[in-house]
Amino acid sequence: VSIYRKDYAPPNFWVDKVEMGFDLHPIRTHVATRLFMRRNPDRSENDLILFGEDIKLLQLRLNGVDLKKSAYRLTKECLTIVNAPDEVCLEVETTIAADKNTTMSGLYVSNGNFYTQCEAEGFRKITYFPDRPDVMASFTVMLRGDKDAYPVLLSNGNLIEQGDLGDGRHYAKWEDPFKKPSYLFALVAGKLVCQEEKFKLQSGRQVLLQVWVEPGNLDKTQHAMDSLKKSIRWDEQRFGLELDLDRFMIVATSDFNMGAMENKGLNIFNTKYVLANPRVATDTDYAGIESVVGHEYFHNWTGNRVTCRDWFQLSLKEGLTVFRDQEFSGDLVGTETGRAVKRIEDVRVLRQLQFSEDAGPMAHPVRPDSFVEINNFYTVTIYEKGAEVVRMYYTLLGHEGFRRGMDLYFQRHDGQAVTCDDFRVAMADANGRDLKQFERWYSQAGTPRVSAQGHYDGSKKTYSLSLTQSCPKTAGQSKKKPFHIPVAFGLIDVQGGEVPLQLEGDTIVARTKILELTRESQQFVFVNVEQDVTPSLLRNFSAPVILEFEYCDEQLAHLLAYDSDPFCRWEAGQRLAMRRLLNLVSAIQKGVPLSLDILFLDALKKTLIDTSLDPAFRELVLTLPSEAMIAEEMKVADPQGIHQARQFARAEIAQYLKSDLLQVYQDNQTPGKYSPDALSAGKRALKNCALAYLVEWAEKSTYELAYTQYQDAENMTDRMAALLAMLHCSSALDKVYRKTRNQVLLEFYKEFQNDALVIDKWFTLQATAPTTDVTQVRQLMQHKAFSMGNPNRARSLIFAFCNANPAQFHCADGSGYEFWADSVIALNKLNPQVAARLARSLDRWTKYPKAQQTRMKAALERVAKTKSLSKDVAEVISKALAI
Ligand code: ARG
Ligand code: ZN
Repeated sequence: VSIYRKDYAPPNFWVDKVEMGFDLHPIRTHVATRLFMRRNPDRSENDLILFGEDIKLLQLRLNGVDLKKSAYRLTKECLTIVNAPDEVCLEVETTIAADKNTTMSGLYVSNGNFYTQCEAEGFRKITYFPDRPDVMASFTVMLRGDKDAYPVLLSNGNLIEQGDLGDGRHYAKWEDPFKKPSYLFALVAGKLVCQEEKFKLQSGRQVLLQVWVEPGNLDKTQHAMDSLKKSIRWDEQRFGLELDLDRFMIVATSDFNMGAMENKGLNIFNTKYVLANPRVATDTDYAGIESVVGHEYFHNWTGNRVTCRDWFQLSLKEGLTVFRDQEFSGDLVGTETGRAVKRIEDVRVLRQLQFSEDAGPMAHPVRPDSFVEINNFYTVTIYEKGAEVVRMYYTLLGHEGFRRGMDLYFQRHDGQAVTCDDFRVAMADANGRDLKQFERWYSQAGTPRVSAQGHYDGSKKTYSLSLTQSCPKTAGQSKKKPFHIPVAFGLIDVQGGEVPLQLEGDTIVARTKILELTRESQQFVFVNVEQDVTPSLLRNFSAPVILEFEYCDEQLAHLLAYDSDPFCRWEAGQRLAMRRLLNLVSAIQKGVPLSLDILFLDALKKTLIDTSLDPAFRELVLTLPSEAMIAEEMKVADPQGIHQARQFARAEIAQYLKSDLLQVYQDNQTPGKYSPDALSAGKRALKNCALAYLVEWAEKSTYELAYTQYQDAENMTDRMAALLAMLHCSSALDKVYRKTRNQVLLEFYKEFQNDALVIDKWFTLQATAPTTDVTQVRQLMQHKAFSMGNPNRARSLIFAFCNANPAQFHCADGSGYEFWADSVIALNKLNPQVAARLARSLDRWTKYPKAQQTRMKAALERVAKTKSLSKDVAEVISKALAI
């Protein structure tokens, strides 16, 4: 059953106050709640509707009187009290079998501790409640439990009372001073320890910060704590937003469906985004922790203080908060290129994952019109495209204009549950702008294409640029109206300098112009252009579109060498590379000899050895488009051909840049104490990129370089990179050193077997190795460290293979798809949310050759026919089959 945005209606009853009492016991937690409700005067219906799922209802009392069976209707998901009075005090008693809950939604047990996950609709697995985000209430929570098993008892807000209950039990009472929707409720109970610190806000107020982890992990909490303090400071300085609580807690658990959750004052995190020290975490992990800690903290204002009216508005909080965490990370780097590197990394994710989603069966607008299961809509479209939409306001309105819009948004809507439209209108009103057309970014799915053509007129000294937009049709949307697209634009002259831009009839001169494309086609004429020029289009990726312009190779090389916009500079390199990779794939298909040209190799060489450029930036340019990106560019994807083409290119580049790669490898060492700062991380990235090329020489010397780095490494970044180089290189050494590699893998396992997050990496490394086939993955599933029930572990092996080893996953006999189907079916029984994520690995099945399509379709149909398929998986599969 689909739920539609157009059917939104406010609730019949509001909840003012909630009092909850928990008696924690893994097999039978008793929950007693008291809900103080009143009729919504705007509604004429008087049925009181509460949701509940997988819980046992023991008692119902309405205004002090036991409710008779005839006074309410109870279905599997809904409790309706017919003809409720205007003022209601409803007492509900339920029990939960938390230890049996493998879904990691609602109340569940992990390593003997209790955790909750209530977004989007998990609160209803705890008690009957109008579990919808527009119902905001004050919560008081009493937790009771065994002192030895659950020494720590946490919930949202402030701890107002705690004490002993005798009989080995104790209690803690928590009160959240702010009204909140039920999806922000949380409790944590168990054996945990914390790193804590008093922190002074800019206003002078002191707050208590805590990072809670399982015993034994206190040596891995410092970076999360540092990230939290930076987040608090950044939101004060950049947006004038202060922490509104006296206490802010982060708790890490190894069993978690996603990254983290912004529960009011009690953020719950996947350990992956909390635990780090140099021995176990890579630079990427450090950066991930910083941005996720920031993300969840920033939700306190964008999400919690101002929340969503309904789940169709999810991007209101997620798109905005991703934009905020991206800006946070960018600001922390500090340098302009550092910021650009972060931008390029974000764009890469968007293109690889979101553009592909937008072109597949799960395509949906940033503000969807319908869904079957809301958990399926925590997507890259809602998050990353949503962030791009927010970034376009920033681009159109400027730094100050955007801030004015944010200020007005909070002035108008603090304490409310609102819509994406409310945000857009605040942005428009604060800046006296009409942003009506901008609404289409929320309502229309699909990735727009902008095609550009330029013409230089030497006699008039003008450069005219025509821009035309279109958008492919998506499910339910065959005709698209033009978007309001900011196109940041510049011109580069023959010497590589920036041409001052002056539009015809305009007096303002600028280096970069934000052109506003609002119609299907528009022309922009620039005057006083003294010589022929190369256009620099979509600077800093100013809109989430596919930009088409027929650059010749020389123009791209010119932009790669000179563009002042680092994004376009990198982009030029990627275009050069993509062109060649596609040619190589087609040469492989035709069986003709392969080669790479000097223009391209020289362009890479220039970048590699240009020490005036940031190491991190050079690494990005030297990294070829991923196999997934290449597949996106092909009408019919050819995973093996793509892999072979990319490997060929890597080996050629390695040969051509031989001595330079060695030099770069030596020049970018980071001796001394490990620091995850952007400059050091950039050096390591470039050095390790060089190493990965060097092993492609197929010579003993470079393989030994990798092995030495592996043995001597003092941090996980360098260790992992060396292992990756050894395991993923395609050279002949592969066979010669197979035994050594297996020994290394064994040693690595022994050394880190007690560090779950490192063992995840160990599985992923093998799952994504070009030599690992389906049979080997099935063998790895038999390893004692593998567990289907732990989401991180399942992702580290199964997802890694299905999503990041395309040449093996799409092997000709279809065994990859059978493995996929088996895994989806197995996960479906345990954890529908995680199963539905894996189900999406076959989204693009129509992009492959006919024979493969037949095999994929068979796998999809087998899953579709499975008994007791969750609605999560059913929705994904049926959409894939409907294409
Ligand atoms: N709101 C959380 C975040 O973005 C993620 C919650 C995801 N929930 C889900 N059911 N998938 O930080
Ligand atoms: Zn979020």
